[in-house]
Amino acid sequence: MHQSLVFSLLPFVLSGAAFAAPSPTSFDTECAKLANSLALPDYPGFKVNFAKFVSGGTELNLTADGVDASCLQYPRGPIPVDLCRVSLMVPTSSKGSRIFMEAWLPKDWNGRFLAVGNGNTNGCVQYADLSFGTQNKFATIGTDNGHNGTSAASFYNAPDVLEDFVYRALYTGTVVGKDVVKQFYKESHRKSYYTGCSAGGRLGWKAVQDFPEQFDGVVTGAPVINWNGQGSLQARAFKLLARDDPTAPTYITSEQFALLHEEVLRQCDHLDGATDGIVDDTLACRLDYKPILCSNNSTSPGCLSSVQADAIRKLYAPWIVNGTMLHPGVIYNGAEQDLQFVVYAPGAEVAIEEWFQYVISGNLNWTWHQFTDADALASYEANVFNIQTWEGDLSAFRDRGSKVLHWHGQADPAITVSVSDQYYEHVGKTMNATSEELDEFYRYFRAGGVSHCGGGPGPFFLGFTYGLDASADPEDNMLSRIVAWVEDGQAPETIRGTKFVNDDPTQGVAYRRKQCKHPKVNHYFGTGNGTDEEGWRCVEREASA
Ligand SMILES: *[C@@H]1O[C@H](CO)[C@@H](O)[C@H](O)[C@H]1NC(C)=O
Ligand SMILES: *[C@@H]1O[C@H](CO)[C@@H](O)[C@H](O)[C@H]1NC(C)=O
Ligand SMILES: *[C@@H]1O[C@H](CO)[C@@H](O)[C@H](O)[C@H]1NC(C)=O
Ligand SMILES: *[C@@H]1O[C@H](CO)[C@@H](O)[C@H](O)[C@H]1NC(C)=O
Ligand SMILES: *[C@@H]1O[C@H](CO)[C@@H](O)[C@H](O)[C@H]1NC(C)=O
Ligand SMILES: *[C@@H]1O[C@H](CO)[C@@H](O)[C@H](O)[C@H]1NC(C)=O
Ligand SMILES: *[C@@H]1O[C@H](CO)[C@@H](O)[C@H](O)[C@H]1NC(C)=O
Ligand SMILES: *[C@@H]1O[C@H](CO)[C@@H](O)[C@H](O)[C@H]1NC(C)=O
Repeated sequence: MHQSLVFSLLPFVLSGAAFAAPSPTSFDTECAKLANSLALPDYPGFKVNFAKFVSGGTELNLTADGVDASCLQYPRGPIPVDLCRVSLMVPTSSKGSRIFMEAWLPKDWNGRFLAVGNGNTNGCVQYADLSFGTQNKFATIGTDNGHNGTSAASFYNAPDVLEDFVYRALYTGTVVGKDVVKQFYKESHRKSYYTGCSAGGRLGWKAVQDFPEQFDGVVTGAPVINWNGQGSLQARAFKLLARDDPTAPTYITSEQFALLHEEVLRQCDHLDGATDGIVDDTLACRLDYKPILCSNNSTSPGCLSSVQADAIRKLYAPWIVNGTMLHPGVIYNGAEQDLQFVVYAPGAEVAIEEWFQYVISGNLNWTWHQFTDADALASYEANVFNIQTWEGDLSAFRDRGSKVLHWHGQADPAITVSVSDQYYEHVGKTMNATSEELDEFYRYFRAGGVSHCGGGPGPFFLGFTYGLDASADPEDNMLSRIVAWVEDGQAPETIRGTKFVNDDPTQGVAYRRKQCKHPKVNHYFGTGNGTDEEGWRCVEREASA
C-alpha cells in the first residue's frame, strides 16, 4: 500500500469509527495550540502574545489589541477570511531591540508566503496589507518595524532600534514568518512574495538588493529609496517656500498653486493625446512660466512674482550640492495643487524634524528652520545602516530567478517619480543592461494620474492593497500579476488601473487604463477624452513628445 494512504487512514483506524469521526485536528484548535507549540530556537526569548482563530468578516479592534493610538490613523480592512491570527514579539539583538509582528494564516491557503512593509518612519503594522494578502489566500506577515507607534523618538541613541527600522525588522519577520507557516501548516510555503508602498516600497527594494534569497517576487510602489535626499528635499522646500510665513515673498498661496496646476495641464495634458486632467508622460512636460508671471500683466488671480517662480523652479531642478546629487527634482505632473500640502500641511515637518533630531544631529532642539545644505550632506553621508536603498547590482536577485515589479504614480506630489526613473537608469548602467535585458527580472511602470500610493485624478485601483483592487485578475491586481510572472512566466507588459465613478466602487467603473512599462509611454489614439481603454498604446517616448 502506498505510504501516504496508510497515514491518511490512520486517524480512522485509531478512532475506531470510520464514519462521522470528529475532526481530530480542527483548524481553530491547531491555531490555539501554536501559542505553546511554536519553537524558534534561533530567537530565544521570543513570545507568542496570542494565537487565535478569527472568522472572515470580523472587524479589527486595534484598541482592544493594544495597538498604539498613533497607529489608528492608517487605513485597514477587516479580517477578510477565516484565519489563524498569531501575534509575536521576537528579539532582534542582545541589546533589547525587538520586533512585534503578526502572522495571518488563512484556512484556505494558497501555499504562498507574503510579507508586507510600513510607511514613513512609523512602527505600525500595515493591517490593510495583511487584509489584502489574506484576502488573496496568502499566509501574510507584517511587523512594527522594530518600534511602537509613529514617532521616531525610539531611534535616539538606540542604533539597534534604527537597524531594525532600516532592514532587520523585515528580514527577521520574514525568516520567522516562514518558520511559523511551516510549523502551522506542516509544510513549507511554495513561493515567497513581498508587497509594500512608500517606505514599504523601500523595504521591498532593500530585500531585492541585500537579501535576494528571501523573495521570489516583489511588488514595490513609490519607493523612498533616495531616503536621505527625500527628507532633505522636503526641509529644503519648507525653507524655499517659507513654510511658516505667509507674508514672505516666496510663500505660495493656494490660489497660486491652483493657477500653476491649471497652467501645467494647459501646456502638458494634451501631450499624451488625451485632454483628461492627467499628464500621462510627465517626462514630456517642460513648463513655460511666462503666461502665469504677474510681471507679464497676467490678469489671473494667483499669478506668480518672478521671485516666487524662481523658488518653485529650484524645487523642480536637480539638487546638487558640492557635486553630490541629492535629488533629481520634483516634476510637473498635474499634482501641483497637492504639493502645497507637502510643503504647508500642519504636521508635515514632524517626520523630517524627528529624523534630524534623533538620528542625524542628536540635537533635540533641531527644527527645519535651521536646515542648510550641510544638514542634507550630513544625512547623505551618514547613510545610517545604508538606508539609502540604492544598490544598482541586482544580479544575485536576477540569477536566482526572482522578479521585481516596480510601480510609481506619476501624480505623486511627495515622492516624485523622477527618483524611480533615476534608479531604473542606475540599475541599467550598473548592470550594463538594456531595458530588454532588465525585462527578464525587473519591470517598471509609471502610472499616470496616480498620487502617492493611491488617490489622484487617474485610475488608481491598481491592486496593491486592501480596498484598492478592482479584481483578483492578474491584469488588475499586482499581487496576482507577480505570481503569474514568477510561477507561470507571464511577464507583465502593462498593469491596469480602474477608475470608479466618484472613486467609489459601488458606483460602477468609469474607465480602465493600462499603464506602460518604462521607458515606453502611454499615448491616446482613440476618440473623445481618453476613456476608451483600447485607444491607448505604449509607444517610444520620441513619438509622443
Ligand atoms: C474596541 O475595544 C475597546 C477597548 O477594549 C472598547 O472600548 C471599544 O468599545 C471597542 N470598539 C468596538 C467598536 O468594539
Ligand atoms: C505599544 O504601546 C502601547 C501603548 O501606547 C502599549 O499598550 C502596547 O503594548 C505597545 N505595543 C508594543 C508591541 O510594544
Ligand atoms: C508674456 O506671455 C506671453 C504669452 O505666453 C509670451 O508670449 C510673452 O513672451 C510673455 N512676455 C514676457 C515679457 O514674459
Ligand atoms: C503690461 O501692460 C502695459 C499696458 O498695457 C504695457 O505698457 C506693458 O508693456 C506690459 N508689460 C509687459 C511685461 O508685458
Ligand atoms: C534645547 O533648548 C532648551 C531650552 O531652550 C535648552 O535648555 C537645552 O539646553 C537645549 N538642548 C540642546 C541639546 O541644545
Ligand atoms: C562645499 O565645498 C566647499 C569647498 O570645499 C565648502 O567650503 C563648503 O562648506 C561645502 N558645502 C557644504 C554644504 O558642505
Ligand atoms: C556592456 O555590454 C556590452 C554588450 O553586451 C559589451 O560590449 C560591453 O563591453 C559591456 N560593458 C561593460 C562595461 O561591461
Ligand atoms: C469623458 O467623456 C465621457 C463621454 O462624453 C464622459 O461621460 C466622461 O465624464 C468624460 N470623462 C472625463 C474624465 O472628462
